[in-house]
Amino acid sequence: SIVSPLHRTGYHFQPPRNWINDPNAPMYYKGWYHLFYQYNPKGAVWGNIVWAHSVSRDLINWIALEPAIYPSIPSDQYGCWSGSATLLPDGTPAITYTGISRSDINYQVQNIAFPKNKSDPLLREWVKPAELNPIAVPEGGINATQFRDPTTAWYADGHWRMLVGGVRGTRGLAFVYRSRDFRRWARAKHPLHSALTGMWECPDFFPVSGSGQENGLDTSESGAKYVLKNSLDLTRYDYYTVGSYDKRKDRYVPDDPAGDERRLRYDYGNFYASKTFYDPAKRRRVLLGWANESDSVPDDKAKGWAGIHAIPRKIWLDPSGKQLLQWPVEEVEKLRGKPVSVAGKVVRPGEHVEVTGLATYQADVEVSFEVSSLEKAEPFDPAYANDAQKLCGVKGADAKGGVGPFGLWVLASADLQEKTAVFFRVFKDGYGKPKVLMCTDPTKSSLSPDLYKPTFAGFVDTDISSGKITLRSLIDRSVVESFGAGGRTCILSRVYPSIAIGKDAHLYVFNNGEADVKVSHLTAWEMKKPLMNGA
Ligand code: FRU
Repeated sequence: SIVSPLHRTGYHFQPPRNWINDPNAPMYYKGWYHLFYQYNPKGAVWGNIVWAHSVSRDLINWIALEPAIYPSIPSDQYGCWSGSATLLPDGTPAITYTGISRSDINYQVQNIAFPKNKSDPLLREWVKPAELNPIAVPEGGINATQFRDPTTAWYADGHWRMLVGGVRGTRGLAFVYRSRDFRRWARAKHPLHSALTGMWECPDFFPVSGSGQENGLDTSESGAKYVLKNSLDLTRYDYYTVGSYDKRKDRYVPDDPAGDERRLRYDYGNFYASKTFYDPAKRRRVLLGWANESDSVPDDKAKGWAGIHAIPRKIWLDPSGKQLLQWPVEEVEKLRGKPVSVAGKVVRPGEHVEVTGLATYQADVEVSFEVSSLEKAEPFDPAYANDAQKLCGVKGADAKGGVGPFGLWVLASADLQEKTAVFFRVFKDGYGKPKVLMCTDPTKSSLSPDLYKPTFAGFVDTDISSGKITLRSLIDRSVVESFGAGGRTCILSRVYPSIAIGKDAHLYVFNNGEADVKVSHLTAWEMKKPLMNGA
């Protein structure tokens, strides 16, 4: 396809060049946010994995340091894979991570590292004590090639505990490891939880405050509820459930009995191997995730880079207690330039309205919609009850509807040959209850060949009886990151327009339904470029 330097993101996290994947060991230490990540120093494809390291004062402006964790001991000599940080009671951080210890197969063990100099706020050098490593090996019949990604540890009843992802047969699970001193670790007999899903990568487990309270909790604090997330190797999506945790038995039980089958997703688009951390500076829990490219491997090699991270998101439990809410960290708003606003504009069936007066290839857009009536909502076919993505595949942005599709065309060309649609569509179930679908449809996003352009979609658990719903989209050249209904449903999508690039990218509000849609309020901001690892 067409490889353009204009596809390189402006304010999403990435190093100057090469391949990146999972965020690792995010933490706040002595006034700095630390982010490590899976990185190939030698090219734009996965391989030669080390932990690259960046620091930030605000999670938005990043300074690159030297790689922090790289192959240097027998138990990590063939790769330093994903892991996490835990702050010990005296304030010292510890990193636990997966090492590859054999060259013939990806044989996985868990290792530990401590800062060489605790008084260095930048934590540049790490030591891996020879007498401790590896701290866990795949004994007892554990599949050695599917045993990885230790979590942040938490302390309860005299023991530290951490999880390691794995699989038994086709049962994905999170092994529990316990320690009294954080140095010697032993596996508990039972996993924290398991489900018939295939391998669990990058588990994450954390407490959340009571319904609707936005403050985060340190991983060792007790929560009103707990969240268990795993990254499913089979589908390449991140799933979570909300549930309860029995500290004595070290067991987690999802609240929804069907939770393990009908799991929730952080993001219904391109978002994987995510990890949260507790930010004591702002008393919030922050979610970081990786979005890979949707172009081809030859394109990545030609670009010289592949992979970005999503804008860090604050997460907390929805007042319903049934799901999390997510919102871009407030610091991203520092990048906003002059705003352009639209108010009280009615978009009639089949109409579209351009938002002018700013460059929109790197922008933040917030919209409040109001639908005149839900009368015309299409009947909901229960066959799609668990498959929003399929429904959106059948009823994309150009398929005329009743209430919707309405929303934004972003990264659109002036002639509308190219456009990425981010939209809602409202259905009515058998009882007349509205069901809201949120989609990102990139099928028209580019005239270039060899792009992966799946429609992404999720249902939105929101009360739309008043006709009101909000949408926010962070647009950044080759990424569109959208938050429906105040962060109830999120979709990140990678797109590579061939005409709608740079100043030739336009922004529209569209309505392909039969009911009028009012833009009660829309504000769009051009986004400035932060410090991005020296690029
Ligand atoms: C997830 C993952 C992890 C592993 C790492 C290797 O994307 O496969 O399970 O530790 O990436 O780079």
